[in-house]
Amino acid sequence: MNKILYGGDYNPEQWPPETWREDMRLLGMAGIDILTINVFSWAALQPSENEYNFSVLDAIIETISAAGMKICLATGTATHPAWMARKYPEVLRVNSDGSKRKFGGRQNSCPNSPRYRSYSALLARKLAERYGKLDNLIAWHISNEYSGYCYCETCEKAFRTWLMRKYQTIEALNEAWNTHFWGHTYYDWDDIVIPGHLSEEWGGNRSTCQIQSIDFRRFNSDSLLDCYLAEAKVLKELTPHIPVTTNMMGTFWDLDYQKWGKKLDFISWDNYPSPGTPYTRIAMNHALMRGCGDGKPFFLMEQTPSVTNWQPYNSLKRPGVMRLWSYQALAHGSDTVMFFQMRRSRGCCEKFHGAVIDHYGNENTRVFRETAALGAELKKLGDSFSGSRLESPAAVLFDWDNWWASSLSAGPTVNMNYPEEVFRFYDALARHNISVDVIGIDTPLDTYKILCAPILYMIKPGFADKLKAFVERGGIVVTTYFSGMANEHDAVTLEGYPGELRSLCGLWVEETDALPTDQLNRLVCSTGLLADSPLAGTWKTDLLCDIIHTEGAQTIAHYGDDFYAGTPALCRNHYGKGQVWYFGSRPEMPFLDRFIAVICGECGIEPVFPPQHGIEATRRIKGEKEYIFVLNHDKTETTVVIPFDCRDLLTDKQFAPGDCCSLPVTGVLILEKG
Ligand code: GLA
Ligand code: ZN
Repeated sequence: MNKILYGGDYNPEQWPPETWREDMRLLGMAGIDILTINVFSWAALQPSENEYNFSVLDAIIETISAAGMKICLATGTATHPAWMARKYPEVLRVNSDGSKRKFGGRQNSCPNSPRYRSYSALLARKLAERYGKLDNLIAWHISNEYSGYCYCETCEKAFRTWLMRKYQTIEALNEAWNTHFWGHTYYDWDDIVIPGHLSEEWGGNRSTCQIQSIDFRRFNSDSLLDCYLAEAKVLKELTPHIPVTTNMMGTFWDLDYQKWGKKLDFISWDNYPSPGTPYTRIAMNHALMRGCGDGKPFFLMEQTPSVTNWQPYNSLKRPGVMRLWSYQALAHGSDTVMFFQMRRSRGCCEKFHGAVIDHYGNENTRVFRETAALGAELKKLGDSFSGSRLESPAAVLFDWDNWWASSLSAGPTVNMNYPEEVFRFYDALARHNISVDVIGIDTPLDTYKILCAPILYMIKPGFADKLKAFVERGGIVVTTYFSGMANEHDAVTLEGYPGELRSLCGLWVEETDALPTDQLNRLVCSTGLLADSPLAGTWKTDLLCDIIHTEGAQTIAHYGDDFYAGTPALCRNHYGKGQVWYFGSRPEMPFLDRFIAVICGECGIEPVFPPQHGIEATRRIKGEKEYIFVLNHDKTETTVVIPFDCRDLLTDKQFAPGDCCSLPVTGVLILEKG
């Protein structure tokens, strides 16, 4: 691409053709050059079982192409047509309580329904045959935000087949699932049901057989991925030159996006932070999504230009915030800025969702002006940094199995929030302007100096050895309480916690105390090794307290309170050329901030730009060129000191080391080094 693509979802089926022409005028004015179309058009394209009608889509494509825009063509399969639900009710999902769903909503198709799969693949085929040769077609967008579960009989049968493939014999499944517990022994595959609310689960993610619930989530993610693959296969066969994607959603519970990412030609994702979300939390989602695609540039497929409609309070994005968050996406590796959506609907649930073109429908709105201003800037930036990647010395680990397993666990605490636990480490690193990747357990570790892997509850085959090899070579691993507890079948270690990590961490955890909300312990770092370091002092700690016996590790801090006062709370183990840090409890953020600064300093990790409150910095690297993005997320104007020779791509201003630059609220610099 010769520039950052700028555009987003466009649903002109809701409007008469005169409106499309006006849309093209307005979108052209705003610098829009890519439209995602056909996202919800199955009903229009296949009005009955044996009838296909592409006339409206033909006309839409003609209009868009005549306006010189590129097309991201959706297959439209996120909502099956009403006739299909009436004629073949098996395409409808069943809820966890066993109730059969009716037509309505979206993502309401049973993922294992052969009829849904074959009809969606057939629609993809027809689209590829008809539009595959368009020279402005740049990507396929399958379905839309895959999500949800189905508890129907077809899915139940498919779950059994999935389990048979995995465990081979019912005895192996009984063993892996520990089914002697509560007399759950299965005699036959047909005894096994989906662990919904009629079976093992109740409330939000509580389960009496967690491995069954984990396996169901793995299966469900695979089932939806199979729907994606059924369509992708057809598209790849007919249009091998057009890349295929679907839009993902960051830390989204239902789907193991790291597994999905391997099957997508490129990652695309939808960024809808709630008001007040810390900028580093948005950044973590970008990094997670980038990591699902091996670090390659991704598409920011959707964001709202102004408001959403589905949050409790749909605050406006303040002036400048849409621009700031757009650059943040670029700063983290996106090669597009795209919105949902181009024109506001008149009816139904998204009528109050923000759009580039408002109900009032002209260019005289704040949102339109901001969109157009950004469009002009993106034109000026050309392809300067597009296609480039980030290079990070630090990584945090995110693993869906660990999310599912630690959240479904009954005990030790209901306050376990895996993404937030990972975020604490991401946050501390990112606020130091250290480039951080968010990686899965399959990602090679060679390029990293430090890996933060909190709540490594479930240790999957080979992962402990991989960590050991990383640390032996000199890597630093930071891990926490509730790690090394179970294998991939959620069977708890009998080797003493943290199980397979015990020798690596150089300690044994005998018991774990859970602290109710607001109850604290203290992390005391006033003696010994840390006496003179910035970590010295007494710090608040909460959530869990492991009672630790060191087995080679050094005690860096001990507990201040309770019957385990004076016992190790934070330990460091030298292992090979590297070291492992083990937090037995969750320290307050000021401690973690300092801790990150100390260990990054020790292993020579440099920030990409001097850290400063509210100022985010990242670096994209393209050949010899380095682009440093500096973003002001703070509530006030501030001044940054530029540490290197560079030119700001947005203003063409040159800077030399030591130059001061004032950054307004939501201000952005894109500094080309050299
Ligand atoms: C999602 C969907 C869009 C739209 C937006 C609204 O991201 O993909 O179709 O519903 O949410 O925020
Ligand atoms: Zn189903």
